Amino acid sequence: MRDILISYWRGRLNNDEQERILSVMNRDRPVSFITGASSGIGCSLARRIANEGHAVALIARRKNLLDELALEIEQAGGTALAIACDVTDATSVRDALRTVESNFGPVTRLVANVGGGERTDVEQFSAAHIERAFALNVMSTAICIEAVLPGMLMRGSGHIVAMGSLAGYRGLPGAAGYSAAKAALTNMMESLRVELRPRGIQVTLLLPGFVRSKLKRKKRPFELELEAATARMHRAILVRKPRYAFPWPLVWIAGICRLLPASLYDVLLAGRGPKPRVRAE
Ligand SMILES: NC(=O)c1ccc[n+]([C@@H]2O[C@H](COP(=O)([O-])OP(=O)(O)OC[C@H]3O[C@@H](n4cnc5c(N)ncnc54)[C@H](OP(=O)(O)O)[C@@H]3O)[C@@H](O)[C@H]2O)c1
Repeated sequence: MRDILISYWRGRLNNDEQERILSVMNRDRPVSFITGASSGIGCSLARRIANEGHAVALIARRKNLLDELALEIEQAGGTALAIACDVTDATSVRDALRTVESNFGPVTRLVANVGGGERTDVEQFSAAHIERAFALNVMSTAICIEAVLPGMLMRGSGHIVAMGSLAGYRGLPGAAGYSAAKAALTNMMESLRVELRPRGIQVTLLLPGFVRSKLKRKKRPFELELEAATARMHRAILVRKPRYAFPWPLVWIAGICRLLPASLYDVLLAGRGPKPRVRAE
């Protein structure tokens, strides 16, 4: 219907009038604020959410990639806005949200997807490395929630989606920063989920295993192709699952590992982290 109206108005109204009418129409749409939309999982989820009929705010630092995605979505009949923003910076996130809300109206769904991190190298262990992992995975999500939550609480509705990982089930060798940060994120989201549900706000925690988001990477156990993984995640988002961990073989393995006594866990995982560097005497 929207598209029929737009094609009717095009040709009859000047550009300013078209802009004004489109911005009023956009306000009737649900609005998703998607972080880490310039590549990988976030980019693929953004396409799916735009197809679902949401106006999508595409958030990341590489503006050129966001602009390309926004153009692609617009050409396919969707509505998108690309905003360069570092989500570890609260002021930038607040500014981005203001821009989104003035273009599209209130954000109805936050997809806090940004995360990741370098391997933890025990020989170069530093608190700063752990801090970076928490900033990227936990604090960026908290900053985005801080920005959108007051509006959602006021309206008594909303959906917050966060990107955890099966790596947060138990501490993995070589991933002290990432595993710890994803475990913290899981608990933060679970606390919020219980508390926000009676206030009309749903929380979905996504817990993927390995997803092939980078082409060159060596294949990892039970790794899913990007589109297959984001199709599953999008379904979980649509039905507002409280928690979605996948694929099941890895969920089982991670779940069993969680129950193992430390002594057995240590034996099983021994030698699985990065190999120690040989020191020159
Ligand atoms: N791939 C997997 O196997 C896997 C498995 C489990 C969980 N996950 C989780 O899924 C999420 C996405 O992973 P991915 O594999 O799609 O990673 P990716 O391809 O590296 O994408 C990360 C995205 O985050 C953005 N980003 C990074 N730092 C940012 C910052 N400070 N401010 C704003 N944007 C930032 C990047 O864009 P810019 O560089 O343009 O800012 C990029 O769009 C992460 O939370 C990751 O932990 C991934």
